[in-house]
Amino acid sequence: MPGVAITGLQWGDEGKGKVIDNLAEDAEHVVRYQGGANAGHTILVGDEKYVLHVVPAGVLQKEKSCVIGNGVVVDLEGLCKELSDLEARGVNTDRVYLSDRAHIVFPFHKALDAARETAASDENKIGTTKRGIGPCYADKVARIGIRVSELYKKDLFKKRLRRLVDEKNTLLEKVYGQDPIDFDEVYNSSLELAEKLKDRVRDTGVILQEAVRKDERVLFEGAQGVMLDVDHGTYPYVTSSNASVCGITAGAGVPPRAIGTSIGVIKAYCTRVGDGPFPTELHGEEGEALRKAGNEFGATTGRPRRCGHLDLLQVRYAVNLCGVRGLALTKLDVLSGKEKIKVTIAYKCEDEIITEFPASLDLLKRCTPVYRELAGFTEDITDVKRLEDLPLNARRYIEFIEANAGVPVIFLSTGPKRSQFFRRGHGEQLWDVDHVSQ
Ligand code: GDP
Ligand code: IMO
Ligand code: MG
Repeated sequence: MPGVAITGLQWGDEGKGKVIDNLAEDAEHVVRYQGGANAGHTILVGDEKYVLHVVPAGVLQKEKSCVIGNGVVVDLEGLCKELSDLEARGVNTDRVYLSDRAHIVFPFHKALDAARETAASDENKIGTTKRGIGPCYADKVARIGIRVSELYKKDLFKKRLRRLVDEKNTLLEKVYGQDPIDFDEVYNSSLELAEKLKDRVRDTGVILQEAVRKDERVLFEGAQGVMLDVDHGTYPYVTSSNASVCGITAGAGVPPRAIGTSIGVIKAYCTRVGDGPFPTELHGEEGEALRKAGNEFGATTGRPRRCGHLDLLQVRYAVNLCGVRGLALTKLDVLSGKEKIKVTIAYKCEDEIITEFPASLDLLKRCTPVYRELAGFTEDITDVKRLEDLPLNARRYIEFIEANAGVPVIFLSTGPKRSQFFRRGHGEQLWDVDHVSQ
Protein backbone atom coordinates (compact mmCIF):
# COMPACT_ATOMS: atom_id res chain seq x y z
CA MET A 1 0.00 0.00 0.00
CA PRO A 2 1.86 3.09 -1.18
CA GLY A 3 2.12 6.08 1.11
CA VAL A 4 0.12 9.27 1.30
CA ALA A 5 1.76 12.68 0.99
CA ILE A 6 0.26 15.55 2.95
CA THR A 7 1.75 18.86 1.91
CA GLY A 8 0.89 22.53 2.33
CA LEU A 9 -0.14 24.22 -0.90
CA GLN A 10 0.22 27.86 0.18
CA TRP A 11 2.93 29.69 2.20
CA GLY A 12 2.85 27.30 5.18
CA ASP A 13 0.65 27.17 8.28
CA GLU A 14 -2.28 25.74 6.35
CA GLY A 15 -3.14 23.47 9.28
CA LYS A 16 -1.02 20.49 8.17
CA GLY A 17 -0.36 19.39 11.77
CA LYS A 18 -4.05 19.14 12.54
CA VAL A 19 -4.81 17.22 9.33
CA ILE A 20 -1.88 14.83 9.75
CA ASP A 21 -2.77 14.15 13.38
CA ASN A 22 -6.24 13.10 12.24
CA LEU A 23 -5.06 10.95 9.34
CA ALA A 24 -2.29 9.38 11.42
CA GLU A 25 -4.90 7.44 13.33
CA ASP A 26 -4.97 4.89 10.47
CA ALA A 27 -1.26 5.06 9.60
CA GLU A 28 1.71 3.06 10.82
CA HIS A 29 4.49 5.53 10.02
CA VAL A 30 4.51 9.32 9.90
CA VAL A 31 7.57 10.81 8.24
CA ARG A 32 9.03 14.32 8.11
CA TYR A 33 11.25 14.63 5.04
CA GLN A 34 12.46 18.26 4.95
CA GLY A 35 12.74 21.48 6.90
CA GLY A 36 13.63 21.72 10.54
CA ALA A 37 12.55 23.67 13.58
CA ASN A 38 11.34 26.49 11.31
CA ALA A 39 8.09 24.49 11.20
CA GLY A 40 5.40 24.85 13.84
CA HIS A 41 2.58 22.31 13.59
CA THR A 42 -0.23 22.92 16.06
CA ILE A 43 -2.51 20.17 17.32
CA LEU A 44 -5.31 20.52 19.86
CA VAL A 45 -6.36 17.33 21.59
CA GLY A 46 -9.22 18.21 23.91
CA ASP A 47 -7.94 21.28 25.71
CA GLU A 48 -4.29 20.27 25.38
CA LYS A 49 -2.34 22.26 22.80
CA TYR A 50 0.84 20.85 21.28
CA VAL A 51 3.17 22.70 18.90
CA LEU A 52 5.52 20.32 17.11
CA HIS A 53 8.64 21.56 15.32
CA VAL A 54 10.64 18.51 14.22
CA VAL A 55 8.83 15.57 15.80
CA PRO A 56 6.29 14.19 13.29
CA ALA A 57 2.62 14.92 13.95
CA GLY A 58 1.86 11.22 14.39
CA VAL A 59 3.37 11.26 17.88
CA LEU A 60 0.06 12.13 19.54
CA GLN A 61 -1.63 9.03 18.17
CA LYS A 62 -0.77 5.80 19.90
CA GLU A 63 2.10 3.61 18.78
CA LYS A 64 2.97 5.19 15.46
CA SER A 65 6.49 5.05 14.20
CA CYS A 66 7.52 8.69 13.73
CA VAL A 67 10.48 9.16 11.43
CA ILE A 68 12.66 12.26 11.14
CA GLY A 69 14.07 11.61 7.71
CA ASN A 70 17.48 12.28 6.21
CA GLY A 71 16.21 15.44 4.47
CA VAL A 72 15.39 17.16 7.77
CA VAL A 73 17.95 19.46 9.41
CA VAL A 74 18.09 18.82 13.12
CA ASP A 75 18.91 21.15 15.98
CA LEU A 76 19.98 18.55 18.56
CA GLU A 77 19.18 20.70 21.56
CA GLY A 78 15.79 21.68 20.14
CA LEU A 79 14.92 18.06 19.38
CA CYS A 80 15.92 16.85 22.87
CA LYS A 81 13.81 19.60 24.43
CA GLU A 82 10.84 18.86 22.17
CA LEU A 83 11.01 15.19 23.13
CA SER A 84 11.41 15.80 26.86
CA ASP A 85 8.55 18.34 26.85
CA LEU A 86 6.31 15.75 25.19
CA GLU A 87 7.37 13.06 27.66
CA ALA A 88 6.71 15.45 30.56
CA ARG A 89 3.16 15.79 29.28
CA GLY A 90 2.69 12.04 29.16
CA VAL A 91 3.28 11.53 25.43
CA ASN A 92 5.24 8.39 24.64
CA THR A 93 8.10 9.17 22.25
CA ASP A 94 9.78 5.73 22.22
CA ARG A 95 9.04 5.30 18.53
CA VAL A 96 10.46 8.61 17.33
CA TYR A 97 13.41 7.72 15.09
CA LEU A 98 16.12 9.97 13.71
CA SER A 99 17.90 9.34 10.43
CA ASP A 100 21.64 8.77 10.66
CA ARG A 101 21.92 10.81 7.45
CA ALA A 102 20.11 13.93 8.70
CA HIS A 103 22.26 17.06 8.84
CA ILE A 104 22.83 18.90 12.10
CA VAL A 105 21.96 22.53 12.76
CA PHE A 106 24.65 23.93 15.06
CA PRO A 107 24.52 27.15 17.11
CA PHE A 108 26.73 28.88 14.52
CA HIS A 109 24.11 28.18 11.82
CA LYS A 110 21.54 30.01 13.92
CA ALA A 111 23.96 32.84 14.67
CA LEU A 112 24.74 33.23 10.96
CA ASP A 113 21.07 33.12 9.99
CA ALA A 114 20.33 35.93 12.45
CA ALA A 115 23.44 37.94 11.49
CA ARG A 116 22.60 37.77 7.78
CA GLU A 117 19.04 38.86 8.36
CA THR A 118 20.12 41.74 10.57
CA ALA A 119 22.77 42.91 8.10
CA ALA A 120 20.51 42.66 5.03
CA SER A 121 18.86 45.75 3.60
CA ASP A 122 15.05 45.84 3.83
CA GLU A 123 14.86 44.71 0.23
CA ASN A 124 17.08 41.69 0.87
CA LYS A 125 15.59 40.47 4.14
CA ILE A 126 13.80 37.15 3.83
CA GLY A 127 12.21 37.26 7.25
CA THR A 128 13.54 33.83 8.22
CA THR A 129 12.66 32.08 11.46
CA LYS A 130 16.36 32.39 12.47
CA ARG A 131 16.47 28.67 13.20
CA GLY A 132 19.65 28.23 11.13
CA ILE A 133 17.87 26.45 8.31
CA GLY A 134 19.44 28.25 5.32
CA PRO A 135 23.05 28.10 6.59
CA CYS A 136 22.71 24.40 7.47
CA TYR A 137 21.30 23.39 4.08
CA ALA A 138 23.99 25.55 2.44
CA ASP A 139 26.67 23.51 4.21
CA LYS A 140 24.94 20.28 3.20
CA VAL A 141 25.03 21.23 -0.46
CA ALA A 142 28.58 22.59 -0.16
CA ARG A 143 29.52 19.13 1.20
CA ILE A 144 30.94 20.46 4.45
CA GLY A 145 27.92 19.73 6.66
CA ILE A 146 27.90 17.20 9.50
CA ARG A 147 25.44 14.33 9.66
CA VAL A 148 24.00 12.53 12.67
CA SER A 149 26.08 9.37 12.09
CA GLU A 150 29.29 11.42 12.38
CA LEU A 151 28.46 12.37 15.96
CA TYR A 152 29.29 8.83 16.97
CA LYS A 153 32.80 8.88 15.48
CA LYS A 154 34.44 11.30 17.89
CA ASP A 155 37.72 11.94 16.06
CA LEU A 156 36.10 12.45 12.71
CA PHE A 157 33.44 14.64 14.27
CA LYS A 158 36.06 16.79 16.01
CA LYS A 159 37.98 17.33 12.78
CA ARG A 160 34.95 18.23 10.74
CA LEU A 161 33.48 20.45 13.44
CA ARG A 162 36.79 22.31 13.83
CA ARG A 163 36.78 23.15 10.14
CA LEU A 164 33.19 24.39 10.29
CA VAL A 165 33.65 26.43 13.46
CA ASP A 166 36.81 28.09 12.09
CA GLU A 167 35.05 29.03 8.89
CA LYS A 168 31.87 30.27 10.57
CA ASN A 169 33.78 32.26 13.16
CA THR A 170 35.68 34.05 10.42
CA LEU A 171 32.35 34.97 8.86
CA LEU A 172 30.72 35.92 12.14
CA GLU A 173 33.63 38.09 13.27
CA LYS A 174 35.03 39.56 10.07
CA VAL A 175 31.90 39.96 7.97
CA TYR A 176 29.16 40.45 10.54
CA GLY A 177 31.08 41.86 13.53
CA GLN A 178 29.64 39.24 15.88
CA ASP A 179 31.16 37.28 18.74
CA PRO A 180 32.79 33.96 17.78
CA ILE A 181 31.35 30.60 18.79
CA ASP A 182 33.32 28.58 21.34
CA PHE A 183 34.49 25.31 19.78
CA ASP A 184 34.72 23.32 23.02
CA GLU A 185 31.25 24.34 24.07
CA VAL A 186 29.70 23.19 20.77
CA TYR A 187 31.78 20.02 20.69
CA ASN A 188 31.00 18.95 24.25
CA SER A 189 27.31 19.81 24.16
CA SER A 190 26.89 18.04 20.79
CA LEU A 191 28.38 14.85 22.25
CA GLU A 192 26.10 15.07 25.29
CA LEU A 193 23.03 15.55 23.12
CA ALA A 194 24.15 12.76 20.76
CA GLU A 195 24.31 10.42 23.74
CA LYS A 196 20.71 11.30 24.66
CA LEU A 197 19.52 10.64 21.13
CA LYS A 198 21.59 7.58 20.29
CA ASP A 199 18.89 4.95 20.81
CA ARG A 200 16.67 6.69 18.27
CA VAL A 201 19.24 6.86 15.48
CA ARG A 202 18.48 4.53 12.58
CA ASP A 203 18.98 4.06 8.87
CA THR A 204 15.41 5.31 8.45
CA GLY A 205 15.45 4.84 4.66
CA VAL A 206 15.73 1.09 5.24
CA ILE A 207 12.79 1.16 7.70
CA LEU A 208 10.61 3.00 5.22
CA GLN A 209 11.64 0.96 2.18
CA GLU A 210 10.73 -2.15 4.14
CA ALA A 211 7.43 -0.58 5.20
CA VAL A 212 6.56 0.13 1.59
CA ARG A 213 7.46 -3.44 0.58
CA LYS A 214 5.26 -4.77 3.36
CA ASP A 215 2.33 -2.57 2.35
CA GLU A 216 2.35 -0.67 5.63
CA ARG A 217 0.62 2.68 5.77
CA VAL A 218 3.05 5.58 5.52
CA LEU A 219 2.12 9.27 5.80
CA PHE A 220 4.65 11.80 4.51
CA GLU A 221 4.36 15.03 6.47
CA GLY A 222 5.34 18.18 4.60
CA ALA A 223 6.55 21.23 6.45
CA GLN A 224 6.16 24.77 5.05
CA GLY A 225 4.28 24.87 1.74
CA VAL A 226 4.69 24.83 -2.04
CA MET A 227 5.18 28.59 -2.27
CA LEU A 228 8.12 28.29 0.16
CA ASP A 229 9.71 25.41 -1.80
CA VAL A 230 13.26 26.38 -2.81
CA ASP A 231 12.68 25.37 -6.44
CA HIS A 232 9.00 26.05 -6.97
CA GLY A 233 8.15 28.85 -4.55
CA THR A 234 8.55 32.61 -4.68
CA TYR A 235 12.36 32.43 -4.76
CA PRO A 236 14.35 33.95 -3.05
CA TYR A 237 11.59 34.46 -0.47
CA VAL A 238 11.42 30.75 0.29
CA THR A 239 12.86 28.25 2.70
CA SER A 240 15.91 26.17 1.79
CA SER A 241 14.32 22.79 1.08
CA ASN A 242 11.80 21.13 -1.24
CA ALA A 243 8.63 21.54 0.79
CA SER A 244 6.41 20.19 -1.97
CA VAL A 245 6.02 16.46 -2.76
CA CYS A 246 9.18 16.86 -4.83
CA GLY A 247 11.19 16.55 -1.60
CA ILE A 248 9.81 13.21 -0.50
CA THR A 249 11.92 10.65 -2.29
CA ALA A 250 15.19 12.44 -1.57
CA GLY A 251 14.30 13.47 1.97
CA ALA A 252 12.76 10.21 3.20
CA GLY A 253 14.96 7.84 1.20
CA VAL A 254 12.14 6.04 -0.58
CA PRO A 255 11.48 5.21 -4.24
CA PRO A 256 8.89 7.25 -6.17
CA ARG A 257 6.38 4.42 -6.04
CA ALA A 258 6.21 4.91 -2.26
CA ILE A 259 3.96 7.90 -2.91
CA GLY A 260 0.55 6.57 -3.90
CA THR A 261 -1.59 9.62 -3.22
CA SER A 262 -0.94 13.30 -2.86
CA ILE A 263 -3.19 15.35 -0.59
CA GLY A 264 -2.84 19.15 -0.48
CA VAL A 265 -3.77 21.25 2.54
CA ILE A 266 -5.19 24.73 1.99
CA LYS A 267 -6.69 27.33 4.27
CA ALA A 268 -10.03 28.84 3.27
CA TYR A 269 -8.08 32.11 2.89
CA CYS A 270 -4.33 32.70 2.77
CA THR A 271 -1.50 33.74 5.08
CA ARG A 272 2.23 34.28 4.88
CA VAL A 273 4.88 34.99 7.56
CA GLY A 274 8.11 36.68 6.58
CA ASP A 275 8.86 38.80 3.54
CA GLY A 276 8.12 38.30 -0.14
CA PRO A 277 5.27 38.65 -2.60
CA PHE A 278 1.70 37.92 -1.56
CA PRO A 279 -0.65 39.11 -4.32
CA THR A 280 -3.93 38.85 -2.40
CA GLU A 281 -2.63 40.34 0.86
CA LEU A 282 -5.09 42.50 2.79
CA HIS A 283 -3.62 45.57 4.42
CA GLY A 284 -5.19 47.70 7.12
CA GLU A 285 -8.34 46.86 9.02
CA GLU A 286 -9.53 44.01 6.83
CA GLY A 287 -6.25 42.14 7.19
CA GLU A 288 -6.23 42.83 10.92
CA ALA A 289 -9.77 41.48 11.29
CA LEU A 290 -8.87 38.25 9.48
CA ARG A 291 -5.73 37.85 11.61
CA LYS A 292 -7.82 38.20 14.73
CA ALA A 293 -10.59 35.88 13.56
CA GLY A 294 -8.11 33.20 12.48
CA ASN A 295 -5.69 33.78 15.39
CA GLU A 296 -2.95 34.13 12.80
CA PHE A 297 0.26 34.38 14.77
CA GLY A 298 3.33 32.26 14.00
CA ALA A 299 3.48 28.92 15.84
CA THR A 300 7.29 29.09 15.86
CA THR A 301 8.16 32.78 16.17
CA GLY A 302 4.87 34.33 17.34
CA ARG A 303 5.07 36.86 14.50
CA PRO A 304 1.75 38.21 13.20
CA ARG A 305 0.96 36.44 9.93
CA ARG A 306 0.11 38.51 6.87
CA CYS A 307 -3.45 37.65 5.83
CA GLY A 308 -5.27 37.77 2.50
CA HIS A 309 -7.92 36.29 0.25
CA LEU A 310 -7.75 32.76 -1.14
CA ASP A 311 -5.73 32.73 -4.36
CA LEU A 312 -6.99 29.95 -6.61
CA LEU A 313 -4.50 30.69 -9.37
CA GLN A 314 -1.78 30.00 -6.82
CA VAL A 315 -3.58 26.91 -5.46
CA ARG A 316 -3.97 25.49 -8.98
CA TYR A 317 -0.24 25.94 -9.56
CA ALA A 318 0.49 23.96 -6.38
CA VAL A 319 -2.12 21.28 -7.14
CA ASN A 320 -0.57 20.65 -10.54
CA LEU A 321 2.99 20.56 -9.21
CA CYS A 322 2.13 18.08 -6.45
CA GLY A 323 -0.27 15.95 -8.49
CA VAL A 324 -2.84 16.54 -5.78
CA ARG A 325 -5.80 14.13 -5.82
CA GLY A 326 -7.74 15.64 -2.97
CA LEU A 327 -7.72 18.77 -0.85
CA ALA A 328 -7.94 19.19 2.90
CA LEU A 329 -9.68 22.53 3.45
CA THR A 330 -9.04 24.11 6.85
CA LYS A 331 -10.30 27.16 8.73
CA LEU A 332 -13.57 27.49 6.84
CA ASP A 333 -15.10 28.42 10.21
CA VAL A 334 -12.98 31.59 10.26
CA LEU A 335 -14.90 32.99 7.27
CA SER A 336 -18.26 32.71 9.03
CA GLY A 337 -19.87 36.13 9.45
CA LYS A 338 -18.52 37.57 6.23
CA GLU A 339 -21.21 38.95 3.94
CA LYS A 340 -19.05 38.37 0.86
CA ILE A 341 -16.05 36.13 0.29
CA LYS A 342 -13.51 37.31 -2.28
CA VAL A 343 -11.37 34.83 -4.19
CA THR A 344 -8.74 35.33 -6.87
CA ILE A 345 -8.91 33.30 -10.03
CA ALA A 346 -6.40 35.17 -12.23
CA TYR A 347 -4.01 38.12 -12.23
CA LYS A 348 -3.99 41.14 -14.46
CA CYS A 349 -0.76 42.75 -15.62
CA GLU A 350 -1.25 45.93 -17.64
CA ASP A 351 -3.85 44.70 -20.16
CA GLU A 352 -2.95 41.05 -20.01
CA ILE A 353 -4.79 38.38 -18.01
CA ILE A 354 -2.40 35.90 -16.43
CA THR A 355 -3.59 32.44 -15.44
CA GLU A 356 -0.28 30.70 -14.61
CA PHE A 357 1.71 31.62 -11.51
CA PRO A 358 4.72 33.58 -12.85
CA ALA A 359 8.32 32.71 -12.01
CA SER A 360 9.40 36.33 -12.24
CA LEU A 361 8.88 38.24 -9.02
CA ASP A 362 9.17 41.45 -10.99
CA LEU A 363 6.18 40.42 -13.10
CA LEU A 364 4.34 39.23 -9.99
CA LYS A 365 4.84 42.64 -8.38
CA ARG A 366 3.13 44.29 -11.33
CA CYS A 367 0.16 41.90 -11.22
CA THR A 368 -3.12 42.76 -9.57
CA PRO A 369 -5.54 40.01 -8.56
CA VAL A 370 -8.77 39.51 -10.49
CA TYR A 371 -11.42 38.80 -7.85
CA ARG A 372 -14.70 36.92 -7.85
CA GLU A 373 -17.10 37.71 -5.06
CA LEU A 374 -19.13 34.89 -3.58
CA ALA A 375 -21.95 35.13 -1.06
CA GLY A 376 -20.83 34.51 2.53
CA PHE A 377 -22.45 32.67 5.44
CA THR A 378 -23.14 33.61 9.04
CA GLU A 379 -23.77 30.30 10.79
CA ASP A 380 -21.32 28.78 13.27
CA ILE A 381 -20.05 25.67 11.50
CA THR A 382 -17.62 24.38 14.13
CA ASP A 383 -19.78 21.38 15.04
CA VAL A 384 -20.73 20.36 11.50
CA LYS A 385 -19.71 16.80 10.60
CA ARG A 386 -21.24 16.35 7.14
CA LEU A 387 -21.05 18.44 4.01
CA GLU A 388 -24.84 18.42 3.71
CA ASP A 389 -25.11 20.20 7.07
CA LEU A 390 -22.99 23.16 6.02
CA PRO A 391 -24.80 26.38 5.07
CA LEU A 392 -25.61 26.55 1.36
CA ASN A 393 -23.14 29.39 0.72
CA ALA A 394 -20.34 27.50 2.47
CA ARG A 395 -21.05 24.54 0.17
CA ARG A 396 -21.04 26.87 -2.84
CA TYR A 397 -17.67 28.22 -1.73
CA ILE A 398 -16.31 24.67 -1.56
CA GLU A 399 -17.72 23.88 -5.00
CA PHE A 400 -16.10 27.01 -6.39
CA ILE A 401 -12.74 25.95 -4.96
CA GLU A 402 -13.11 22.45 -6.40
CA ALA A 403 -14.07 23.74 -9.85
CA ASN A 404 -11.11 26.12 -9.98
CA ALA A 405 -8.52 23.89 -8.35
CA GLY A 406 -9.64 20.92 -10.44
CA VAL A 407 -9.70 18.50 -7.49
CA PRO A 408 -12.26 17.61 -4.81
CA VAL A 409 -12.18 18.73 -1.18
CA ILE A 410 -12.05 15.40 0.69
CA PHE A 411 -11.21 16.59 4.21
CA LEU A 412 -12.78 19.51 6.03
CA SER A 413 -11.54 21.16 9.17
CA THR A 414 -14.03 23.42 10.92
CA GLY A 415 -12.12 24.42 14.04
CA PRO A 416 -8.72 23.96 15.71
CA LYS A 417 -9.64 20.84 17.72
CA ARG A 418 -8.80 17.33 16.59
CA SER A 419 -12.49 16.47 16.60
CA GLN A 420 -13.49 19.40 14.36
CA PHE A 421 -12.73 17.47 11.20
CA PHE A 422 -14.58 15.26 8.76
CA ARG A 423 -13.99 13.24 5.62
CA ARG A 424 -16.06 12.98 2.50
CA GLY A 425 -15.99 11.13 -0.80
CA HIS A 426 -12.55 9.69 -1.54
CA GLY A 427 -11.39 10.89 1.87
CA GLU A 428 -13.23 7.94 3.38
CA GLN A 429 -10.92 5.54 1.52
CA LEU A 430 -7.64 7.34 1.85
CA TRP A 431 -5.57 4.17 1.84
CA ASP A 432 -7.36 2.66 -1.09
CA VAL A 433 -5.23 4.23 -3.80
CA ASP A 434 -7.50 3.22 -6.68
CA HIS A 435 -10.33 5.21 -5.20
CA VAL A 436 -8.35 8.33 -4.37
CA SER A 437 -6.45 8.46 -7.61
CA GLN A 438 -9.38 7.97 -9.98
P1 GDP B 1 0.77 24.03 10.11
O1 GDP B 1 2.12 24.63 10.24
O2 GDP B 1 0.35 23.88 8.69
O3 GDP B 1 0.62 22.75 10.88
O4 GDP B 1 -0.25 25.08 10.74
P2 GDP B 1 -0.04 25.92 12.12
O5 GDP B 1 -0.24 25.02 13.26
O6 GDP B 1 1.19 26.72 12.06
O7 GDP B 1 -1.23 26.96 11.99
C1 GDP B 1 -2.55 26.57 11.88
C2 GDP B 1 -3.34 27.21 13.03
O8 GDP B 1 -4.73 27.09 12.78
C3 GDP B 1 -3.12 26.51 14.36
O9 GDP B 1 -3.25 27.47 15.38
C4 GDP B 1 -4.26 25.49 14.42
O10 GDP B 1 -4.64 25.17 15.75
C5 GDP B 1 -5.35 26.27 13.75
N1 GDP B 1 -6.33 25.46 12.99
C6 GDP B 1 -6.14 24.34 12.24
N2 GDP B 1 -7.28 23.99 11.59
C7 GDP B 1 -8.20 24.91 11.96
C8 GDP B 1 -9.56 25.12 11.60
O11 GDP B 1 -10.15 24.39 10.81
N3 GDP B 1 -10.20 26.20 12.16
C9 GDP B 1 -9.57 27.04 13.02
N4 GDP B 1 -10.27 28.08 13.51
N5 GDP B 1 -8.29 26.88 13.37
C10 GDP B 1 -7.61 25.84 12.84
P1 IMO C 1 5.12 25.29 8.82
O1 IMO C 1 5.64 23.90 8.62
C1 IMO C 1 5.24 29.47 7.60
C2 IMO C 1 9.10 31.03 6.23
C3 IMO C 1 9.76 32.11 7.06
C4 IMO C 1 10.45 32.88 5.96
C5 IMO C 1 10.91 31.79 5.01
C6 IMO C 1 12.35 31.34 5.21
O2 IMO C 1 4.72 25.60 10.22
O3 IMO C 1 4.08 25.62 7.81
P2 IMO C 1 13.52 29.86 7.08
O4 IMO C 1 13.61 30.05 8.56
O5 IMO C 1 12.87 28.60 6.67
O6 IMO C 1 14.83 30.07 6.39
O7 IMO C 1 12.58 31.08 6.59
O8 IMO C 1 10.05 30.68 5.24
N1 IMO C 1 8.75 29.79 6.95
C7 IMO C 1 7.50 29.44 7.30
N2 IMO C 1 6.34 30.11 7.17
N3 IMO C 1 5.24 28.23 8.12
C8 IMO C 1 6.40 27.53 8.22
O9 IMO C 1 6.43 26.23 8.58
C9 IMO C 1 7.61 28.15 7.85
N4 IMO C 1 8.90 27.77 7.85
C10 IMO C 1 9.58 28.77 7.29
O10 IMO C 1 8.81 32.88 7.74
O11 IMO C 1 9.53 33.67 5.27
MG1 MG D 1 3.03 26.27 11.13
